[in-house]
Amino acid sequence: MTKDTETLIRLPKRKQSSHDCLIKNSGCLWLSLTSVFTIVLIACFTLLWVYISSGPSRDPGSIVQRLFFRVKAAGTNVKQECAITDERKFDCHPEVGATKSICASRGCCWKPTTPSASNLNSVSSVGVPSCFYPLNYTEYHVGNISRTSDKITAFLSRNTSSYYKEDVKLLKLVVTYESSYRIHIKIYDPLHPRYEVPVEINKPAKIFGSSSAASSFDIKITESPFSFQVYRKDGHVKLLDTSVGGFIFADQFLQLSTLLPSRYVYGLGEHRATLLHSLNWTRVTLWNKDRPPVEHSNLYGSHPFYLVMEEDGRSHGVFLLNSNAMDVILQHAPAITWRAIGGILDFYIFTGPSPANVISQYTELIGRPFMPPYWSLGFHICRYGYKSVNQTLDVALRTHAAGIPQDVQWDDLDYSYGWMDFTYDAERFGDVPGLARTLHDMGMHYMMIFDPGLSNSQPIGSYLPYDYGMELDLFIKDNVTGKPLVGKVWPGTTVWVDWTHPKAQKYWTTLVTGFHNQVEFDGMWVDMNEPSNMVNGAVDGCPKNSSLENPPYVPAVHGGSLKFFTICPSSTQYTSSHYNLHNLYGLMMTKMSHNALLNARPNQRPFVISRSTYPGQGRYGGHWTGDNAATWHDLYASIPGILNFNLFGIPMVGADICGFRMNTTEPLCQRWYQLGAFYTFSRSHQERDTNSHDPTMFSKTLIDSTRKAYLLRYSLLPHLYTLFYNSHTRGETVLRPLFFEYPKDKNTYGIDQQFMWGKCFLISPVLSENTTEVQGYFPKGSWYDIQTGSQQKSNGQYVTIATPLDKINVHLREGCVIVTQTPNLTTTMSRKNKFGLVVALLDDGKSEGELYADDGKSADSIQKSKYNRILFSASKKDRQITSAVDHLGYHEDMVLGNLTIFNIGTKPSQLTVNGVLCNFTFSQNQVINVEGLTADLKKRLTVKWT
Ligand code: GLC
Repeated sequence: MTKDTETLIRLPKRKQSSHDCLIKNSGCLWLSLTSVFTIVLIACFTLLWVYISSGPSRDPGSIVQRLFFRVKAAGTNVKQECAITDERKFDCHPEVGATKSICASRGCCWKPTTPSASNLNSVSSVGVPSCFYPLNYTEYHVGNISRTSDKITAFLSRNTSSYYKEDVKLLKLVVTYESSYRIHIKIYDPLHPRYEVPVEINKPAKIFGSSSAASSFDIKITESPFSFQVYRKDGHVKLLDTSVGGFIFADQFLQLSTLLPSRYVYGLGEHRATLLHSLNWTRVTLWNKDRPPVEHSNLYGSHPFYLVMEEDGRSHGVFLLNSNAMDVILQHAPAITWRAIGGILDFYIFTGPSPANVISQYTELIGRPFMPPYWSLGFHICRYGYKSVNQTLDVALRTHAAGIPQDVQWDDLDYSYGWMDFTYDAERFGDVPGLARTLHDMGMHYMMIFDPGLSNSQPIGSYLPYDYGMELDLFIKDNVTGKPLVGKVWPGTTVWVDWTHPKAQKYWTTLVTGFHNQVEFDGMWVDMNEPSNMVNGAVDGCPKNSSLENPPYVPAVHGGSLKFFTICPSSTQYTSSHYNLHNLYGLMMTKMSHNALLNARPNQRPFVISRSTYPGQGRYGGHWTGDNAATWHDLYASIPGILNFNLFGIPMVGADICGFRMNTTEPLCQRWYQLGAFYTFSRSHQERDTNSHDPTMFSKTLIDSTRKAYLLRYSLLPHLYTLFYNSHTRGETVLRPLFFEYPKDKNTYGIDQQFMWGKCFLISPVLSENTTEVQGYFPKGSWYDIQTGSQQKSNGQYVTIATPLDKINVHLREGCVIVTQTPNLTTTMSRKNKFGLVVALLDDGKSEGELYADDGKSADSIQKSKYNRILFSASKKDRQITSAVDHLGYHEDMVLGNLTIFNIGTKPSQLTVNGVLCNFTFSQNQVINVEGLTADLKKRLTVKWT
């Protein structure tokens, strides 16, 4: 007997319902009628009492709910149960084809809306539902609740059936207080184990316990019908409130709705939309899909995580650890509905209170982002359609010849023989090993693409990846035949690696290492890993009668069915069905590629960029936002796209610069290189038949402005690298929305045309054609144009900034001290250059900054303490800047060559660095510049002026 069943035995016997009574004993009919009458009377009095007692502070929603719950208990007044405002209607018939009679058969209310939400197909805005839950919809009831200091356990049961097959009628609820800021709410079937997401979750070493005074939140459980509220102890803000009804837990339909404390909702991806979600019946569908990023569609990744800004500027986050296909609906109430078609309900709530805290708490659970190699912060160029190894190399040569920094050159499938992984085309790319070596000699790095679909049509003995995979029996299987499922990708018919197979890592490592022995690539680009398929399901189709192929509810996936251009959901993987594991495919491929690279390049930091993603992926790699188009709208959309991935714990992210699909134009591309220079992952890439758009393909004006933007980026790389260190160690975002730094300033909540690098830089790009100015929002304080030092004072307002064609606006925030480095054509070269210090003095108070530095490539730099961390502090009043070496473990030279001070006030008469008098220039903008220094950054620095 399991512990769960033991506890179950003690469950109180459920009361006999009137339904039971009628069946077992017709004599109780009269009794029922009398009791109905009595109950109606009592209910009327109760109504009156609740109304009067609730007084002036009553919350209309909850009062109505309480009132009508009582009315329904009397079994009457259906009309009033349905008197619900549109924004609080929760959809009782999310499938297509709702009618009044089906709706009634579900026990729900019917009031047609035009167009009826239930008749809309595959759009992201679902509209007011015509069929919606009455206020007292019958659901689960709580029995046998037990509380300890760190846990609440309860059993939930329902006597009735929902309208989905195979309700789980008995559920277990476990609420664990995991830390002072994290609560875990798990609802599952205690009797029949169900699929749970097999990702690594960092559980707390020690459970925190609710009794601690430090706990900032609590949970209230309502027993009948079951609902819960998570609220902040302070101020009683309800973060979640599930009392709105519609809670269903059936085998293939799990649904829970909760009211939200505000309308400021972010996250839930991968999707394309504004950063701040619209609550206008927005539907976000999660089912990983090879789909060029467009609005209203499921895309490459799934991130069932949202962040809410509360009315008072505090923030919390919610993560549903579930990997099944799902719809998430946002409505004006404000409320959210989770509707998944499998797994369990496994929620984690992070109570912040700042948005930055929320993300750090989230990545503490799912894993902190990986520490990237320094070279990966450089500029990357790629295209689909290079015709030979020489063409690939030429791009790098001409980019450098134009004085534009570039660190990484990529090859798409072109390098391969017949588009097959782990091969190269002897004719066109015969010297790909030589290409890698040449790039290395140039101080550059080389990336290659790998797809998970492997050709199954080569003669036996000629294609090791297939033969070896067959030998290990590790391809995903057709559920009926038990043979490898065959679909189609670039190389023709293909089979797919099952990453959940116990030998998958060994297999992939062997192939990657073997290929690396031939071509010394530096990182892996893993693509088509949703997984993408060029036929629906399989070449022979998918089994017809499987419930996994035809679930009772299909989320609004693009194409209308789960198998649409991917593999059959019923196919079998080692640990579960593809139906359950689909959304994890890209994550697992990324993880295995990361590990394989560690083997192929011992103690070198792996670099993997993946198209498909799932929570936790940030610890193994980065992401690009897929096959965007060369349009101005795509240029803008890249900003909310990359900001979202910073929220998802994948800060290494970028969009294809200048657009992947369509021929780009020079004006668009010029602005895109400027913006792209401020993505964390900065790569130009394009489709096979489009005109080459690497920078030197354009006029001198574009070449000049791109050079300028990338030289600026390269000069700021020590700072960007420090941000990555903070992301890796503390879970900070690297790029972030403005509201992360200004959570009390509601003007920032909707901003997604500007963004920040860490807390210090505000980036305000031009995003439309024929424009040489930007209307940018400047949060309160002083900002300094990093390129000119000119000051922008703001009270928290929009400002028009002149932005000629050769400029991107990058402003340094007052109070920041940042470290720069003289740029060069590659980071291999720039890393040898002198550093600079830029200080934006506060009129009053301390300016601060930090620098993290290591060799930029060893996998064990942090673990073995082979790094330096230097802290800076500056004060206008004390007229000095100092540094403190917080950690010294990396012993290469680090020489400070120049110093810039913004907002110094009047011209000083003298300035010393480490006691030595220095020449300096002073400009109109109150900017001091000191050149020619040779101070050792690894020692304490003191700058003084009088
Ligand atoms: C996919 C990728 C794209 C790549 C192409 C060929 O469409 O998203 O980036 O160029 O496949 O490999």
